[in-house]
Amino acid sequence: MKAAVVSSFDAPPRYQDFPDPVPAGVDDLVVDVLAAGLHPRVRSQADGSHYTSTDELPLVPGVDGVGRGADGLLRYFILPDTTLGAMAEQTVIDPRRSIVLPAGSDPVAVAAAMNPAMSSWVALRQRIPFQPGQDVLVLGATGNAGQLAIQIAKLSGADRIIAAGRNAERLAMLPAAGATGTVCLDGDPQVVARRLGQAASEVDVVLDYLWGEPAAAAMIAIITARADRAKPLTWIEIGSIAGPAAPVPSAALRAARLTIVGSGQGSVSTREYLAELPALANAITAGALNASARAMPLADVEAAWSAPTTTARIVLTP
Ligand SMILES: NC(=O)c1ccc[n+]([C@@H]2O[C@H](COP(=O)([O-])OP(=O)(O)OC[C@H]3O[C@@H](n4cnc5c(N)ncnc54)[C@H](OP(=O)(O)O)[C@@H]3O)[C@@H](O)[C@H]2O)c1
Repeated sequence: MKAAVVSSFDAPPRYQDFPDPVPAGVDDLVVDVLAAGLHPRVRSQADGSHYTSTDELPLVPGVDGVGRGADGLLRYFILPDTTLGAMAEQTVIDPRRSIVLPAGSDPVAVAAAMNPAMSSWVALRQRIPFQPGQDVLVLGATGNAGQLAIQIAKLSGADRIIAAGRNAERLAMLPAAGATGTVCLDGDPQVVARRLGQAASEVDVVLDYLWGEPAAAAMIAIITARADRAKPLTWIEIGSIAGPAAPVPSAALRAARLTIVGSGQGSVSTREYLAELPALANAITAGALNASARAMPLADVEAAWSAPTTTARIVLTP
């Protein structure tokens, strides 16, 4: 079969022949892949930088996708850590790590949205006891996951939803997704801190896609401007687009009732992820959550890898 194959972590995957999949266990199911999303997680899998990387090559990347098996059912699946990922004509899935999609599901739309949507959906349901009426700041809101986080916070009953990002043009589009306020993170750090302090000092929950210096600076800005520092502030670390480490000052944890938790593979168990999939897939299929998608043929995988990142999530279609 044809697949996107990584032979070196220094180079993008290439479209080439790869051995046909062989089911390893009795429960395994070979599926024809219809759509596989090119998420940041897949890029870090393909360049060996993800924290779950085992350095094993050759590797077919792709952590999730939509496919159809011999039983004729359309499924969204999540793959375990494997060298045969979703970016292939066929892959092997464990049906227990999949859900049968509702009739009328668009494979490309589902493959585009599930991974970025899951980040905040799971964080707000499995990592904290989120309450309707709470206020949320989405830090790094201009990407796919951030835009979906705004929609998911709204669906979850959030009151104020503040969207913060560095790209003013994309930020201006976020009120249409449900943001009640925006904060531009671009510019003089002191001015940015003042903006954050004014707009987001009283939030209850931060969904943080940035980490790095901007997260530490935002933490200080919010805590410093907070009227009641004993009011709980829960910071959920979800992504690290701005840096893998953040210089969080010790005083931030003493001077305010700040709790920092992470949400991702490991801190959320596979069982917990699987429990959330049906409702999330229904929300996407029903149009309650929208992510823009750009389908590209699997054969164009090299072009997909070097395509400029836009707001549309690239989805490879074998
Ligand atoms: N833990 C989980 O469950 C989970 C699940 C899914 C995704 N994630 C993580 O969440 C993050 C976002 O994923 P995504 O799917 O939204 O990626 P994406 O669609 O590529 O969006 C990334 C966004 O970040 C912005 N950005 C880049 N550097 C920035 C910086 N220094 N400051 C502010 N904004 C910056 C980019 O916009 P501009 O360049 O225009 O500013 C872009 O809009 C990634 O780290 C991903 O691995 C985590």
